[in-house]
Amino acid sequence: MTLRRVTVLGATGSIGTSTLDVLGRHPERYRVHALTAHRSREPLLAQCRRHRPAVAVLDAEEDAAWLRGQLAEAGLATEVRAGREALVEVAEAREVDAVMAAIVGAAGLLPTLAAVKAGKRVLLANKEALVMSGALFMDAVTRHGATLLPIDSEHNAIYQCLPVEHRGGLGRHGVTQLLLTASGGPFRGWSRDALGRVTPDQACDHPNWSMGRKISVDSATLMNKGLELIEACWLFDARPDQVQVVVHPQSVIHSMAAYSDGSVIAQLGNPDMRTPIAYGLAWPERIDAGVEALDLFRVARLDFEPADEAAFPCLRLAREAMAAGGTAPAVLNAANEVAVEAFLAGRLGFTEIDELVARVRDESPVAPAADLETILEADVLARRSAHAWLARQ
Ligand SMILES: NC(=O)c1ccc[n+]([C@@H]2O[C@H](COP(=O)([O-])OP(=O)(O)OC[C@H]3O[C@@H](n4cnc5c(N)ncnc54)[C@H](OP(=O)(O)O)[C@@H]3O)[C@@H](O)[C@H]2O)c1
Repeated sequence: MTLRRVTVLGATGSIGTSTLDVLGRHPERYRVHALTAHRSREPLLAQCRRHRPAVAVLDAEEDAAWLRGQLAEAGLATEVRAGREALVEVAEAREVDAVMAAIVGAAGLLPTLAAVKAGKRVLLANKEALVMSGALFMDAVTRHGATLLPIDSEHNAIYQCLPVEHRGGLGRHGVTQLLLTASGGPFRGWSRDALGRVTPDQACDHPNWSMGRKISVDSATLMNKGLELIEACWLFDARPDQVQVVVHPQSVIHSMAAYSDGSVIAQLGNPDMRTPIAYGLAWPERIDAGVEALDLFRVARLDFEPADEAAFPCLRLAREAMAAGGTAPAVLNAANEVAVEAFLAGRLGFTEIDELVARVRDESPVAPAADLETILEADVLARRSAHAWLARQ
């Protein structure tokens, strides 16, 4: 069995720790090349002790110096680097076979794209990177021969439900629709009025999934489903009208593909991200993920309902951004990141998140997303516009 070397970008996060759990179950298959974090130096130290990576990366030099000292004291040979350049280096390093892209938000774009351009197997959890740079990203996957495996449970499910070689448009394979399931988040069924009083802790308390705070808020506003809709369009060559969001509160069906002969193929499992992570690591083989087997008798029933886009306008905003094309999805993403941060800091109400996103969208011209510079500039301008709006409140 060939040993694969893996870089985990965002190792200290929810996806990062689940990835290390799966990797740790298969020492005969995988070695950790690099682990990265933003500021979580103590959790990263614990991970270095356990997984002995060749390289560890933190954002600030001060934190990197601290980690260097601790590792030297423990007699570990891990090299410690700091800064954004170092993220790119560990993503494209020659000795690396696979990269888990699990940094949250736009910060993950450059290292994820670097892994793609280096032709790696890229396990894509960082949906924001693809939302921002869709056409450019997918073009780079093709041109550099990267293997892109979706880790978002919905996209991973659809990937499993489609024919192995599914590029070139859904129609070619008799697929009529992608059914993207959504739990509906913690506030399913709530009125707009009640949503106005939601607190950050309530928003981060997801009924089925345990996730980082940003994606938890996105799940509560349904922006997560909107970002996933855009992600699905790029990953599977789908038009927005070919992706239907289906609220399925049990989160047992992770998504489905409908075919022209009437078949609907679904992927089911317990809501545990280690399943798509293990799939992405081992594809086309299967490995143990440490996930409990699905007990259908305990699940007992599966419910489905349409999403309430009046109470949760983020889904519509995302669909409109995808239809507008160009830099519109990057603007949507940047405005949402600023809004979620402000909400988590107690500076913005829950229902003001979509208001802020809509306001920034209205103020931002859409340009063709011809190159990375244009996309990054749209991101910066949208953040500026969002901060200006916040300052006026
Ligand atoms: N959690 C899930 O179940 C789930 C499911 C599907 C998709 N995803 C996607 O996976 C990605 C990660 O989600 P998560 O829930 O694992 O997030 P998370 O728990 O917040 O972890 C984020 C990771 O990224 C690092 N990070 C944050 N800001 C950074 C920056 N500016 N530069 C470099 N690194 C940075 C964090 O380091 P520190 O610890 O030092 O802050 C941490 O390691 C997101 O794009 C999310 O949408 C997550």
